[in-house]
This record gives sequence, structure tokens and C-alpha cells, in this order.
Amino acid sequence: MKFKTRLYITFASIAALPIMLFTLCFIVVGKVMIRLRQTGGVDTVSDLVPKSILVSLWISFFIILFIIACLLTRWIGKGVFSPINDLGFGLKQVADGNFDYALDPESVKGEVKELYKSYEEMRLRLKESAGEKIESEDNNRELITNISHDLKTPITAIKGYVEGIMDGVADSPEKMEKYIKTIYNKANDMDRLINELTIYSKIDTNRIPYTFLRLNVADYFNDCVEEVGVELESKGIELNYTNLVDSQTRIIADPEQLKRVINNIISNSVKYMDKEKEKSIIDIRILDEADAIKVEIEDNGRGIAAKDLPNIFDRFYRSDSSRNSSKGGSGIGLSIVKKIVEDHGGYIYATSKEGEGTCMHFIIRKYEEIKDDEQNIDN
Ligand SMILES: Nc1ncnc2c1ncn2[C@@H]1O[C@H](COP(=O)(O)OP(=O)(O)OP(=O)(O)O)[C@@H](O)[C@H]1O
Ligand SMILES: [Mg+2]
Repeated sequence: MKFKTRLYITFASIAALPIMLFTLCFIVVGKVMIRLRQTGGVDTVSDLVPKSILVSLWISFFIILFIIACLLTRWIGKGVFSPINDLGFGLKQVADGNFDYALDPESVKGEVKELYKSYEEMRLRLKESAGEKIESEDNNRELITNISHDLKTPITAIKGYVEGIMDGVADSPEKMEKYIKTIYNKANDMDRLINELTIYSKIDTNRIPYTFLRLNVADYFNDCVEEVGVELESKGIELNYTNLVDSQTRIIADPEQLKRVINNIISNSVKYMDKEKEKSIIDIRILDEADAIKVEIEDNGRGIAAKDLPNIFDRFYRSDSSRNSSKGGSGIGLSIVKKIVEDHGGYIYATSKEGEGTCMHFIIRKYEEIKDDEQNIDN
């Protein structure tokens, strides 16, 4: 019932009841007096009705009024104060950042129903935006962690090459040129990652800013292998490269992000290599899979236990043996790899045997040109 109606009823009851009761008393007493006068009896009310009866009548009258006033106050209180108290409690919860205290508009009527509805609307909207904020903060944190993770690889490589040059390992002009070229490439990788960081902070996006291009598979992987080859050579790891795709095969990919995939996989192969220097081998194979290409990067390192294999792409997952070893890491390298491959519309999986080695396989669809259709690929 609406507040107004409740108030009208209360007002009418409190004002009308005494009037009605008084009127009733006057009518009764008046009638009794008239009758007694006619029979020649008494004159006054006190002569007519004993005093004790009059007193009880007045007391009953006030008790009735008191009970009615109490009931009406309770009735108003129930309709007004308890929903307002609930609303106040709810608003306090919202102010404290708890958006889970719900008020059911169907449980009340009248003006309070509208208030409850507005409260619920506000609560749900705030809850949604708080959720979005938390998600966006989580994503930002994840992106910054990912970039910091990937920045470590080129920095370590640059340090290694500079130390190599200082120790006189680059003892021929060809070697020196190779070292300097690799340092240059690694510095470029860092530059790109730092740029990525700037883009995130500037445009406040939570997604990797991909620049998809049509890439010739053979050219792209030849360059990549050449680059990682120098690094592996300096670590005494043999690198074998096989490319079985047609020289015209192309894919749509972001060359820099794809390099992050390869760098992360190779850095794991290097990190978890347990064979002696000359016996450490990494194979890179590019295979033709009808409408896709499959890249396989295989090492003969320590391998991954069958129980760990299904989890290695999970963020922060590290096998027990990795956690217990001296090899540092946070378990995010392969989660970055998986995300990038999937953002390219591809998929990745690993096969491994403990003690024998690991192979990472990832598949990316080929770019098929539609002859009659002028296709424009937006960067
Ligand atoms: N080539 C590999 N050989 C053996 N184990 C591997 C190999 N690649 C990945 N793993 C296992 O998978 C786990 C997850 O790899 P991931 O790259 O995500 O994390 P990480 O290398 O431990 O740490 P981070 O990459 O953050 O430095 C590793 O801890 C390791 O146990
Ligand atoms: Mg790793």
C-alpha cells in the first residue's frame, strides 16, 4: 500500500475514532437520561450511571485508543521504516564497495518499490563497471608481465654477445659481423616490445596491437632461423632446419609477434636442454598440411613428464622439475605463445618424452588468394 494511503487511513482513524466513540457515548447516555426523565427519576449522568462505571468506561476508552495508536504506528513503521532501513543498509554496502546486497522490488509496494528498483539498477550497473575495471586491470597487468618476460630474452642475448666480443670469441671479421648483426636484431626486438608497451599505455587497449601482413613462409622462416642460428651456435647447440612448403606459400601473420612465439619456444629448448654441448640438437621443420602450414620445433632436452604435458600452456604453470631446478622462470612463456598462435587463428600442442626431448607443433592457415576478388588486407 502507498505511504499516502497509509497516512490517510492513520489520520482518519486517529481523528475519527474518538469522535465516533464520544458520539456513541452521548447517544447512549442521552437515551438513558431521556427514558429516566420520562419516568420521573434522576437528573445528572452521575446520578444515572455509577462513578465506577464511568471511570472504567474512560479507561477502556483510552486503552482502546492506545492499542489502536500502537497498531497504526507499527503498521506505518512496517511500511516505511523497515524498507528505508534496508535501503540505508544497502547503500552503505554499496559505498563500502560491496555490490552483492540485493533488494527485491517485488517484496514491497508503492513508492518504496520504485526506490528499490532504482537501487537495484544502480547496484547492478556499479557491479558491472567494477567487474570491467578489475578485468581491465588484470589484463593490463598480464600484458605488462608478458612484455617484461619477453624483454628478458633479447637483453640476455645482447649481454652474451657483447661479452663474447669483449672476450675475443668473435675472432674473425665474419663472426664479428654476425655478432653485431644479432645484437642489432635483438635491440630491434627490444625496441618493438617497448613500443608495444607505449601503445598499451597510450591507447589503453588490452589487446596485443597486431599488424597482420602477408608473409612468404620460406623467406620469413629462413630469416628467423638465420637469426636464432647464430645464438644457438654460440651456445654449442646444433640447429637443423627443414622447409617442406612450396616457395610461394604465404600466411597472414604479424611477423614480430610470430617471432615472439619462436623465441619463447627456442628459449625453453635452450633452458631445459640437459645434453652436453655438442650433443644438444634443435630441429625446426616447416611442413605442408594442405590448407595450413605446421611448424615443428623439436629439442633433445630433458623432456616433460606426461602428467605435466596437458598443463604447460597454462599461465604460471611450471613442472615440478622446473620449479625444483635452478632454472628461473615464471611459467608464462608458453601461455604467451598459445595466445599469439590462437590470435592468428591457429593452434598449438606439444609432444614430449622424459629424458628424450620435446616437440612443439603449431599450425597456421595458409593465405589463399581469391583470384577474381580484389582482396585488401587492412593492417
Ligand atoms: N622444451 C622444453 N623442455 C622441457 N620442458 C619444457 C620445455 N618447454 C616447456 N617446458 C616445461 O613447461 C613449463 C612451462 O613453460 P613456460 O615457458 O610457460 O614457463 P617457464 O619456461 O618455466 O618460465 P618463463 O617462460 O616464464 O620464463 C616449464 O616450466 C617446463 O617445465
Ligand atoms: Mg619459458
